[in-house]
Amino acid sequence: MSVSRLKAWLGAGLLATAQLTSGYALDLGSKESVEAVTSTLSSLASNAPRLALKLTPEGLKKQLEDPEFITSLVSGVESLIDGLNTGRHRRRLTPNVAPLVPQEHRPSAALRKRLDVDGVQIPSFEEWFQIDIDDLGLSAVSTASSKSGKEAPPALSKLTLELIHQLNKLDTVASVHALQQGPPPAVNPNDDPRSGNQGYLNAAPQGINARYAWTITGGDGARVGIVDMEQGWNLNHEDLRAANITLISGRNRDYPDHGTAVLGQMLMADNQIGGVGIVPAAKGRVISQSRPDGSYNTAATILDACNNMASGDILLLEAQEFDPVGGQYYWPVSVADANHEAILVCTGRGIIVVEAACNGGNDLDAYRNLSNKRIFNRAFPSEYRESGAIMVGASSASVPHFRLGYSNHGSRVDVYGWGENIDTTFTNADGTANNLYTTSFSGTSGASPIIVGAAAAVQGIAQARLGRKLSPARVRTILTTSGTASRTPSSDRIGVLPNLKAIIDGGHIRV
Ligand SMILES: *[C@@H]1O[C@H](CO)[C@@H](O)[C@H](O)[C@H]1NC(C)=O
Ligand SMILES: *[C@@H]1O[C@H](CO)[C@@H](O)[C@H](O)[C@H]1NC(C)=O
Repeated sequence: MSVSRLKAWLGAGLLATAQLTSGYALDLGSKESVEAVTSTLSSLASNAPRLALKLTPEGLKKQLEDPEFITSLVSGVESLIDGLNTGRHRRRLTPNVAPLVPQEHRPSAALRKRLDVDGVQIPSFEEWFQIDIDDLGLSAVSTASSKSGKEAPPALSKLTLELIHQLNKLDTVASVHALQQGPPPAVNPNDDPRSGNQGYLNAAPQGINARYAWTITGGDGARVGIVDMEQGWNLNHEDLRAANITLISGRNRDYPDHGTAVLGQMLMADNQIGGVGIVPAAKGRVISQSRPDGSYNTAATILDACNNMASGDILLLEAQEFDPVGGQYYWPVSVADANHEAILVCTGRGIIVVEAACNGGNDLDAYRNLSNKRIFNRAFPSEYRESGAIMVGASSASVPHFRLGYSNHGSRVDVYGWGENIDTTFTNADGTANNLYTTSFSGTSGASPIIVGAAAAVQGIAQARLGRKLSPARVRTILTTSGTASRTPSSDRIGVLPNLKAIIDGGHIRV
């Protein structure tokens, strides 16, 4: 880890406590250590509060009549926000308002009509705006410090959170959350060589048995497309170069060591160097949440990705999100409504979406959104929100696999992968080193590519056998069938580790 980059991050106010450089020495499995070693800490693109805001139909009508409508909503709540009215002068928030999703990335009316067969409301994204509060030197993230050595997760600043909560109370506002950059859901290994050596490829119960899938036509991921969404990669790494991985859109800039590790697990070339990916014949591409204009916009990125993908291909969401209710980081991206709606469009189009459960150590079943709904709890069907994505938790590499302490968990989590000791490609903080490897990539970031690999093997075999790829619902069912249970399923609550041999031999790869 580069100390100067670390300082840039600290300077940006996201993590204001020390102990980070020594983080590698901490045990994995606790929240603090995950935070301490979370990827390469690069500076933030922008640190002023930016929000995504969805208007109700009534609100949209008003905004279309009067382009200053949203601005007036923001000034209307100013007086309610602590910290803006101290002293003699009232401080004014002057927002820039723009659409959240550019016209060209929005689902067309025809597409929405086609997807609406089951009565699922497919959003148009016309109601979503972004608000950039680019003044007063206000900070989007808090600078809370650690209490007794235990670090608080990065969190939205009090002001940002108050803005969210006040705006959310308005009749014309349907939803609001932050647009704030942060690290992807992994732990950056890089010291302490271990002997994991790709045990995730091995037969159950240790791994998913990719080695068996390779003996079946299509089991190497042939004719399957994979897109990794995060913020940076070294696409010239010696063991990735042959895979011709290309960037769909956005800036390849932040956390390249993380992206390089993720790609290696799936796509390391089948050659004489390094290791081998789970599906070395799949066609990999990448897309960045750091948009070409410098904004950070996960929903627009997800929509742009699926506009560029074919039905049956796989989109991997290697990202975490700030919770609009409590303000803390390390939640799955679908905690933010715009991201959930974007995922819904993708799965509606037949794209398999694999979403990291993320590293907050939270019980997702207990989570309640801004309307007090348990959106991740499958036991409450009237509150639960289905996106069609496959959600992935993280387990120990050792057998029996148990949930690692940092992994979010609950009934929403479908499957798990290894969250430690992962052997894969790596690079330096600038993404320029082409010959590095690690034995200890980890986090739900390390777990999720294992699931993408399993899904790609299933889709490759389906393509070869049936002449077509399977639907998101079918792939999710297949991956959770005959998998390896965790040590204590009732308390781990991270689903199963897919077992490709059991899936293939059990005749599950059918429509
Ligand atoms: C990468 O591109 C080269 C040259 O166009 C081609 O020969 C090779 O088959 C490609 N590899 C993959 C994995 O697509
Ligand atoms: C909260 O969850 C419910 C679904 O259970 C959803 O209708 C609502 O849009 C979500 N978000 C907000 C801000 O209420």
